[in-house]
Amino acid sequence: MKFFIDTANIEEIKEAESLGVLDGVTTNPTLLAREVERTRRDPNVVLREICEIVNGPVSAEVTHLDKDGMVKDGRELATIHKNIVVKIPITEDGLKATKVLESENVKVNTTLVFSTNQALLAAKAGTSYVSPFIGRLDDVGHVGMDLVQEITQVFIEYAFKTEVIVASVRHPLHVVDAALTGAHIVTIPFQVIKRMVHHPLTDVGIERFANDWKKAFPSGG
Ligand code: E4P
Repeated sequence: MKFFIDTANIEEIKEAESLGVLDGVTTNPTLLAREVERTRRDPNVVLREICEIVNGPVSAEVTHLDKDGMVKDGRELATIHKNIVVKIPITEDGLKATKVLESENVKVNTTLVFSTNQALLAAKAGTSYVSPFIGRLDDVGHVGMDLVQEITQVFIEYAFKTEVIVASVRHPLHVVDAALTGAHIVTIPFQVIKRMVHHPLTDVGIERFANDWKKAFPSGG
């Protein structure tokens, strides 16, 4: 299972990369705008730096909503770095743009997926990734992980090459549940990665071992 980080914050990406657990990055217009405002740098400069930190797919989203605009955005984003994956929302124009870009060997991540039909259409159009947003489904009273389960099952059944990125992750249990569905990838916010590391019994255990060692070897051992 691959772990992506869901942020455009350079410090968070560097920190997560240093843990040795990162396979890629996902951004979206909200996350990228936040980093551009924070650092007062050009969005493309931020994206290039992200690509230089993490050796894996880096999703960057189109901002136009019409097919030609999305294709143009996608081609431009793809020139930033070879690892750029173009994020396109699942719409009719989005499907058309996906077909064009994938035929030009530009990888697409179909985003804002909330149904199995949307995932199926995107896979048929040749997208490389689909991103079901589970947290946002949970927020409106649906079980987001049921969608991941269904998409994963259908993709296996029909041997689609499209990979499933579990997105809109809110807490560590989402990561465990995503892993249990057999989804290929989960994209995780930085704070959730940090929470995944910690367990109170680990902290207690470390303290107890350190105290016992100090008692046995007061001068340092
Ligand atoms: C995924 O690619 C999106 O960037 C992200 O997971 C959206 O998550 P949110 O619902 O927390 O905004």
